[in-house]
Amino acid sequence: MAGGKLRVGIAGIGTVGGGLVKLFADEKSRLNEKMELVAVSARNRSRTRSFDISPYKWFDDPVELARQPDIDVVVELIGGSDGPAKRAVEIALARGAHVVTANKALIAVHGAELAGLSEEHGAKLMFEAAVGGGVPMIKALKESLAGCRAQSVAGILNGTCNYILTEMEHAGRSFEDVLADAQRLGYAEADPTMDVGGFDAAHKLTILSAIAFGARPDFEHVRIEGIEGVTLTDIRLASKLGYRIKLIAKGELIDGKVSMHVRPALLSFDHPLAAIAGSLNALVVDAEPVGQLTFIGRGAGEGPTASSVASDLLDIAEGRGGPAFGRPLAQLADAPRATPAERGRFYMRVLVEDKPGVVAALSDRLAHENISIESFLQMPAYGEPAVPIVLTTQTCTRAALDAAARAIESLDAVTEPPRVMPVEEHGSRRPPWSQR
Ligand SMILES: NC(=O)c1ccc[n+]([C@@H]2O[C@H](COP(=O)([O-])OP(=O)(O)OC[C@H]3O[C@@H](n4cnc5c(N)ncnc54)[C@H](OP(=O)(O)O)[C@@H]3O)[C@@H](O)[C@H]2O)c1
Repeated sequence: MAGGKLRVGIAGIGTVGGGLVKLFADEKSRLNEKMELVAVSARNRSRTRSFDISPYKWFDDPVELARQPDIDVVVELIGGSDGPAKRAVEIALARGAHVVTANKALIAVHGAELAGLSEEHGAKLMFEAAVGGGVPMIKALKESLAGCRAQSVAGILNGTCNYILTEMEHAGRSFEDVLADAQRLGYAEADPTMDVGGFDAAHKLTILSAIAFGARPDFEHVRIEGIEGVTLTDIRLASKLGYRIKLIAKGELIDGKVSMHVRPALLSFDHPLAAIAGSLNALVVDAEPVGQLTFIGRGAGEGPTASSVASDLLDIAEGRGGPAFGRPLAQLADAPRATPAERGRFYMRVLVEDKPGVVAALSDRLAHENISIESFLQMPAYGEPAVPIVLTTQTCTRAALDAAARAIESLDAVTEPPRVMPVEEHGSRRPPWSQR
């Protein structure tokens, strides 16, 4: 500390790191009352940047920056679950320097280990910007809702996927078409797997679930399905049944165990997440006794994300911010060994040859597994060899639905494996007449 101010080093000055350098350069920023930016690091010193790096000490190697004994807080904004980002964070914590990061992959995969290092060396580890960009989701769960018992957290946590699904619905364009456009416009990465495959949302869900349910972060147990298989037909037919399709990241307690899913799901139009359009992020927290809370805002981008990093820095400077996941590591529950059995309502799309008796055969396979149909829609064939049939079920187990789907797939008239998506409930799962 120099003159009572914390000395900060930023490793990674791209989109988010650059935003943070600009916040430090703003004389009116509160950051400057408590802190001083002293060093930066990136791969390429001579790259043209929209901010001045000459006042700060330069490091080619972020690990070297993290090693400097006169840097009190290391801000890691490089990215990636391993490599230099992880090394820099480990080195900083191990010498007792505080760490702020926006790196969801790192915290989801190595969070428990890093939280252990932070406790051992009395250094803070903070990552508000890792989930929801500028929306204070972590602080809400960790601090504002600390007195509540969370039952579920369900969110739209990946702006790229939400943008693609919104565009497909509004413009009637295919997944491939919208993705190609998003890549051309820079909204999606050249390799979009992290986003459209659901992995980015799964990293964020891992972090939220750990804090919400007081459990060790456990990325391995997230069941992940991306949006690549969502077709325009699904979007249109789900809409006719009163639903919108979104990539939902959901963690919930089932029989006292944490269940985590990222997958496309159907939301009725009055679900609080159904109205979240474009690249916005949102989170619905259901907790006792507060009830349901919804957070909405910009989940990415230079300004929003840097502002969350800045708030972590101010917390450190002003002595706030407890254990990384809200409770000391020893008090976090272990990861469940078995995934809890799932129950709910489901959507199924079956592509069939337009022959008499197909609908009866389909209902028969569902009835055999004790599954009742809630709504049903068959499209006219318009001369096409195969027609889609879509239905939603009443509440059943996922195991029964999967068994019925296998039996349906083996029917002669069915031309491809049925497509199944859950229907996302909201509010209390009890019907209105039974609520206290
Ligand atoms: N962008 C967002 O809106 C957003 C939102 C929430 C969270 N995040 C997270 O924030 C972190 C940073 O994201 P970003 O979008 O700012 O990334 P970015 O624009 O790609 O910037 C990455 C920075 O890290 C530096 N870097 C990359 N590899 C390096 C290496 N091997 N050694 C040293 N420096 C290296 C780059 O150097 P050069 O500048 O020389 O290339 C650059 O300054 C990631 O963890 C990301 O997931 C981003």
